[in-house]
Amino acid sequence: MKTKAAIFKKQKKGRQVNLDVLASLHLLLGDADFSRDMLIEHLHVIQDTYGCVDDENMVALASLMKITPVEVYEVASFYHHFDLVKDDQTRPPEVTVRVCDSMSCSMFGAEQLIDKLEGHYRGDVRIQRVPCIGACNEAPNAVVGKNRIGHADLEMVQQAVVTRDVKPHAFDNTISFDEYFKKGGYKILESIYNEEITHETVIEKMKNAAFRGLGGAGFPTGVKWELVRKEKAPRFMVVNLDEGEPGTVKDGFYLGQNPHQFIEGMLIAASVVECEACYIYLRDEYTPHYEMLKHELAVFQEKIHLDVPPIHLRRGAGAYICGEESALIESLEGKRGMPRLRPPFVANVGLFNRPTLVNNFETLYWVPIMLEKGPEYFTQHGANGRTGLRSYSVSGRVKNPGVHLAPAGTTIQTLIDDYCGGMLDGHEFYGYFPGGASGGILPATLNQIPLDFDTLQEYGCFIGSAAIIVFSDHDKARDMAMMAMDFFKHESCGQCTPCSIGTEKACGLMKSDNWDIPLLKDLSTVMQDASICGLGQAAPNPLLSVIKYFPQEVNGGQ
Ligand SMILES: Cc1cc2nc3c(=O)[nH]c(=O)nc-3n(C[C@H](O)[C@H](O)[C@H](O)COP(=O)(O)O)c2cc1C
Ligand code: SF4
Repeated sequence: MKTKAAIFKKQKKGRQVNLDVLASLHLLLGDADFSRDMLIEHLHVIQDTYGCVDDENMVALASLMKITPVEVYEVASFYHHFDLVKDDQTRPPEVTVRVCDSMSCSMFGAEQLIDKLEGHYRGDVRIQRVPCIGACNEAPNAVVGKNRIGHADLEMVQQAVVTRDVKPHAFDNTISFDEYFKKGGYKILESIYNEEITHETVIEKMKNAAFRGLGGAGFPTGVKWELVRKEKAPRFMVVNLDEGEPGTVKDGFYLGQNPHQFIEGMLIAASVVECEACYIYLRDEYTPHYEMLKHELAVFQEKIHLDVPPIHLRRGAGAYICGEESALIESLEGKRGMPRLRPPFVANVGLFNRPTLVNNFETLYWVPIMLEKGPEYFTQHGANGRTGLRSYSVSGRVKNPGVHLAPAGTTIQTLIDDYCGGMLDGHEFYGYFPGGASGGILPATLNQIPLDFDTLQEYGCFIGSAAIIVFSDHDKARDMAMMAMDFFKHESCGQCTPCSIGTEKACGLMKSDNWDIPLLKDLSTVMQDASICGLGQAAPNPLLSVIKYFPQEVNGGQ
């Protein structure tokens, strides 16, 4: 007779792999790379194919990647874009309509659209509220499958659902490789590879132009390149194309227009810093951008024969925190996007524990122009004592929202009047976010502040990625702050208590008609002082702005 121990030894622990599912998944993924960092890419393939990620596929994927099912689950459950389905749960309906309910879309009737859609479909089409999808200038936005519909209404969504118009629509105005090349494109890159322009010259020019990173923190780009170049090889380059800050649309806009100017800029940076490989991390909502960029990268490889480093294009999976550079690197390694503790900084220990240059997409986009036309192209511009050009992403209650390239230091009033065609008819300017959800809120009375790096701190705000959201006398600043806090609560990675619990507590307190101001201020201080990363540190900004500049809206001004 067998002993108990022998019986247990024979029974394998945990859920067993379903061999049929394993075979189909293997077929689906083909001769894919099963290294650990590819986990999120493979989860995308499963999600795209079946409309969800079920337990059996997760176990099969773990088996193919030779990792534990728990590791797969832990990663898949972190990202909003994977629909995890248990064996006994029903799968999502064939079509999902996602409606953005962040600030700009809310101003333009997102709530009413959600109500109408829910009333109309009653479950046979899934209606999901989602945070900002990066098209705030076309609010309100709905996404049917992967087809984004700007200025959406019930009829437009119905039409897309009925005709199963669920694929992303291709760009129609993108500058092709041939057009770019004909106008002198890739000449600078060639000159660098031919050693006609030295690495030192490039860095010197970046420094002379006082060029600063455009992802939010404004770190001097030339200095960053020099620092990473000094680190021991091998080094990597990472392009931050996550563009998750509500209100920010500039990266997607420029990428759609001129992908090759960006590709050239990225490869110049990679060459100057002598990086072994480039990784582009693109926000998952930018589906048309993904298809187009994949194509244009292939065209580049076919037509330009320089010994450039390998370029990997990777998809995010719906987590705002992955815009933070260390979280992004974790995500690229196939893990949950949780920011790392610093030091070490990613410039010293980044992707795969190697020194890593992380730059925002737009930072790299301007590099070829800077080198071709010289620093003066940028330094000759500027307003109100500031220098350079800024791409302001403007959304909200203005006539012409969108990306407006204007002198650094332009005021909100000039932006509204001279670039955005004024406020919408019937709307009076009441307030604005000068730097997306995290950069705080200012009242219309402070309409003459130069909008640039370093000019807003004294007002408790910052410009970040220059996402300007304008609201009017039809809106309330407290509602805007509430939406921003709700966004941070949704997007907190959960790693540290001041942020994960702080955002939740703040949301609860902000719902009250009368705000408990001392308690909210106390909570804000803890979040600012003790959160691990910029998300938790900046999350209280809009709430503190309301207390400071819009006291009439909370607690009768006490
Ligand atoms: C919560 C959070 C979100 C961020 N999101 C983005 C983003 O979507 N895109 C971006 O380029 N930088 C983002 N950043 C800034 C990056 O961490 C990093 O500073 C930037 O990519 C560096 O590039 P740059 O020097 O070219 O600006 C974010 C930072 C934080 C704290
Ligand atoms: S501050 Fe928030 S997002 Fe950043 S590490 Fe802490 S919990 Fe995560």
